[in-house]
Order: sequence, then C-alpha cells, then structure tokens
Amino acid sequence: MLRRVSAKVSAICRKGNITQLDPKLIMSRQLHARRIEGVDKNIWVEFTQLAADYQVVNLGQGFPDFSPPSYIQEAFCKAVNGGCSMHQYTRAFGHPPLVTILAKFFSKVVGHDIDAFEDILVTVGAYQALFCTFQALVNEGDEVIIIEPFFDCYQPMVKMAGGKAVYVPLRPRFEGGKALTSADWVLSSEELASKFNSRTKAIVINTPNNPLGKVYKREELQLIADLCIKHDVVCISDEVYEWLTYDGAKHVKIASLPGMWERTVTIGSGGKTFSATGWKVGWAIGAGHILKHLKTVHQNSVYHCATAAQVNNGFNMLS
Ligand SMILES: Cc1ncc(COP(=O)(O)O)c(C=O)c1O
Repeated sequence: MLRRVSAKVSAICRKGNITQLDPKLIMSRQLHARRIEGVDKNIWVEFTQLAADYQVVNLGQGFPDFSPPSYIQEAFCKAVNGGCSMHQYTRAFGHPPLVTILAKFFSKVVGHDIDAFEDILVTVGAYQALFCTFQALVNEGDEVIIIEPFFDCYQPMVKMAGGKAVYVPLRPRFEGGKALTSADWVLSSEELASKFNSRTKAIVINTPNNPLGKVYKREELQLIADLCIKHDVVCISDEVYEWLTYDGAKHVKIASLPGMWERTVTIGSGGKTFSATGWKVGWAIGAGHILKHLKTVHQNSVYHCATAAQVNNGFNMLS
C-alpha cells in the first residue's frame, strides 16, 4: 500500500498544517478482500435502522422489552464495583469462574464430564461462537448443510470461510386439516440423507429453531446424528433458545446422543438465557480437540470478552 502512496503523491493536498490524502486516489488495486463479496448486506443492520427511522416496533430481532432478572443486574453492578481486576483483561477463552460454572452446569445437562478449561470457549455472544466455529472448521470448497428456514448469519459465515452452503428444508406436514404447529415442520429422512457426500464437512442445526420455534424431538436428532457419524461430519448445534420451550416440548442436546459429544459444537447465549442480549456473552462447548481450533480463531481476533460481563451471567443462581 505504501508503494502506491508515493506514486500518488500528487493526490496530497494541504489543509492548514494537516496533510490529507484523498482515499479514493491512494489505491488503484481492489481494496476489499474477496471473502467479503456478497455478504455486505445484513438484515439486522438494515431493519434495526428502519425500525428506528420509522419509530415502529422491531419484531425482527430476538430481544425482550423488559429488564433481566434483578439478581443478574445486581451481580453485574457488583462486578463493575468489584475492584480493579474487573476492569482488566482476563483469561482469553473465558473468565475462570464463568467457565467453571458452565462446565459444572452443562456436564449435568449433556451427561458428559465437561472440562472447564479445555471444552469451553466464551465468546462475544453466540454470534461470535458461530463465527469462530465456521472459520475454524470450514475449508475452501467444504459443504455445510443448513436446514431451512434458518437464522440468517449461517449462510454468510459459511461463505466467508470459503465453504458452500447446501440447503435442506423443513417441510410442513398436513394431517387431517389440523392447525399447523411448529412440530409439524419436519425433515424428510431421504432428502436429508441425499445432501451428505464426501465434501460435507458440517451440518448446522438450530433447536429450538428461529424462526419456527420448532423443538427437535430425540428421534429427529438421532436421524441427524446417524448421518453425521456415518459420513464423519461435524454438527454445529445452535441452542441459544434452549430454555424457551413451551407446551411440554423438551429440549434435547444432540451432543448428549451416543457418539455425538466427539463431533458436536454446542452454541449457547447468556443474552438469550437471561434476557440480557446487550451484554453479548455466549459460548461454544465441545470436545477439546474441536474447541482448540475455535480458540485459535478467537485468540487471533477478539482475544477475550468483557471481563465484567462474564462475572455472573446467572448460572451461579441456577446450579
Ligand atoms: C438462532 C440464533 N443464534 C444466534 C443468535 C445470536 O445470539 P447472541 O445475541 O448471543 O450473539 C441469535 C440472535 O438472535 C439467534 O436467534
């Protein structure tokens, strides 16, 4: 870039005693990296602005219009007032008390001993956990199966990692004129199986699903698990809404099925769990041999999340 600057010296103009370069003239080569081509539009950026401009209720973004529980707010205030260490860097892959409590809590849920320091990465929201996962695991040309309808960021994140998104739809199942529920959106086992091949690196599932609200049943997860194991494919399981289940629906973690802990990255969100989306605390949980690659991306990008936001995001109260 500096080579070009000298060539474009005529583009320098003087304004008082400050030297300014015309940014349009400095570079003659293409400025942007190819990996960001086709991913410049973002529905949340656009719709949040539209909602603000026209003063309308934003039904698009998944955040509540009420405050988090008082114990969460009090813990945050305590953290902020908790001395100088709360305002400084902490461990790159997660503040030690947080990863410890997450490991203890989720070991029971997954039915597998989770190592706080090997198997967990705390991220800037589930969003960054997803980003680290795709960057760490997807190579140029790898195929990643995405189940439709899906949370929008999976597709651009796969693309930025150089992968190819392969879609498989949940289809509505009509039975006897009954009203359709989220459980009536189902995968066809043949159609799903037809998407797996030697180029398939990963499948993304989202349960409970945004936008349908579908909570995958154990049998549905087993079908996906069997295909992952058969084709040696990683499962990226976005479970940010795991505690938002209704009408008796039970959330099952695909990582808890036999043979799946070793090949699943489970993604969670403190923001969604505790109605505190603005704190942007999320995590990826999985076997250390997978998580170490996500940590490589994390340490070379964000490095670590805000210390005070990690201090108590509620799991101390739940466990
Ligand atoms: C399915 C899904 N995954 C991930 C996220 C991102 O969560 P976070 O706010 O923790 O980054 C969202 C946010 O709406 C979501 O709906």
